[in-house]
Amino acid sequence: MWFLAVMWISCLLVGTQAQSTASFSRGNDRNRRCQYTFTVDSPTEASCPSTASSAEMEALKSRLGLVEALIARLAGGEASGTEAQMGLRTAYTQVIGERDRLQQEKARLSQQVEQLQQTVEQLQREAERLRSRPCTQQPSQSVPLYDSSLQPGTGTSHSHLVSRPGRTQGETSSLRESSWSYGSPAYQEFKAEVAEFPAPRPEDNVDSRGCGELLWVGQPVTHRKADGIAGRYGVWMQDPEAVSPYGSNMVWRIDTVGTEVRQLYGYEDMDQFSRGFPTKVLLLPEAVESTGAAMYRGSLYYQRRRSRTLIRYELVSESVAARRELPHAGFHGQFPYSWGGYTDIDFAVDEKGLWVIYSTNKAKGAIVVSQLDPHSLEVKKSWETNIRKTTVANAFMICGRLYTVGSYASPNTTVNYSFDTTTSQSKAIAVPFQNRHLYNSMIDYNPAQKKLFAWDNYYMVSYDIRLGKQQ
Ligand SMILES: *[C@@H]1O[C@H](CO)[C@@H](O)[C@H](O)[C@H]1NC(C)=O
Ligand SMILES: *[C@@H]1O[C@H](CO)[C@@H](O)[C@H](O)[C@H]1NC(C)=O
Repeated sequence: MWFLAVMWISCLLVGTQAQSTASFSRGNDRNRRCQYTFTVDSPTEASCPSTASSAEMEALKSRLGLVEALIARLAGGEASGTEAQMGLRTAYTQVIGERDRLQQEKARLSQQVEQLQQTVEQLQREAERLRSRPCTQQPSQSVPLYDSSLQPGTGTSHSHLVSRPGRTQGETSSLRESSWSYGSPAYQEFKAEVAEFPAPRPEDNVDSRGCGELLWVGQPVTHRKADGIAGRYGVWMQDPEAVSPYGSNMVWRIDTVGTEVRQLYGYEDMDQFSRGFPTKVLLLPEAVESTGAAMYRGSLYYQRRRSRTLIRYELVSESVAARRELPHAGFHGQFPYSWGGYTDIDFAVDEKGLWVIYSTNKAKGAIVVSQLDPHSLEVKKSWETNIRKTTVANAFMICGRLYTVGSYASPNTTVNYSFDTTTSQSKAIAVPFQNRHLYNSMIDYNPAQKKLFAWDNYYMVSYDIRLGKQQ
């Protein structure tokens, strides 16, 4: 019935404004109800007719009735109209959301295309560069063309083109040992050092090497971002005691995503590394497990995939110079760092030499550090710490001290534990450390550069550090 009330108001307006055409409007009334206003001039009178039911009034009423019916049909009634509106709004929101998502996806794909184009360009430039050079004795990047007999100083005993799928002693023992579960919490107590190995050499004098405790770690400096998914994590390194034919500027890199990781890329220097132009691609004879590899005195040290076998791959001869089982070491996910990635066995190099960081069933998951003979890979001495390997994000050695990082994913974490192999003492520390890219898969110390090298979610970064005199 509000229609009629509106009618009267309209008539008043018509009377004062003398509209010449019909108009229709919609708005809320005082009770927030939707109000449709239909205004029309009387064809015969200048103002509203009397309430007497003239023929005109009847005609107008019937026209209004038609309009009302039409509106009701269109809106489906006031209540269901609101429902329909809400339904429409939801659908609209969904469509908008979908559109935004598609736009984001498009932007992401465009970016990927751009990156791929850049990679293609880089490879073309690299191919161009290689073509324009006189033929050298370096193997081409194409793996199947690799012919080790072209290498000078290479023996005939190359075994690395032969795969050895049959060697599975490691796997067998893993099955036996993987049934181990975390035992009594008392293992956290400090354990005495293992006595069955000879003492370190007396020339390992801390003071003469500018050594000290880790006091500060700087902001990460980015050197390179990996191009593809295979570079989500990996290991990059420089040899702190480089051996001919490779100088100390040479940078090495292994992308470790995948199951058959065998490519070792060499870059002439940091600049070429940053540009992504390798000058050397070596095919390792045995697949690499995870990000624990290290470069030291002209050899790449790494853990053979799915085994506790340590391998020393000599760069000059491009062949395996030593291989040895790391006694009792857990591997392939038994005692990884907290991010996983089969980081069970981690090589480290510092001022005192070559180390390996791992755990054993006997140590019940606590980190064990062993100093290795770099030539033979024999364990010279071992220490058992009181920190569980799976609770730390990563670990590295500086000046004979083991350091562990709290988190691999939090942007601001700390190096919060150290273990000194000279005193067998551990302590809690709190040196701020940034994982800027939120997924740090490798942290190694380079004693020649006095820097930490890391691989943080596609980014190859380094950190300056400061060491202090021991108190
Ligand atoms: C180091 O930090 C991590 C993460 O904040 C924490 O879970 C862990 O308990 C800390 N470890 C020590 C030894 O303080
Ligand atoms: C991390 O620390 C830096 C400075 O130390 C600070 O600027 C930044 O806001 C911190 N980030 C987070 C997420 O706490």
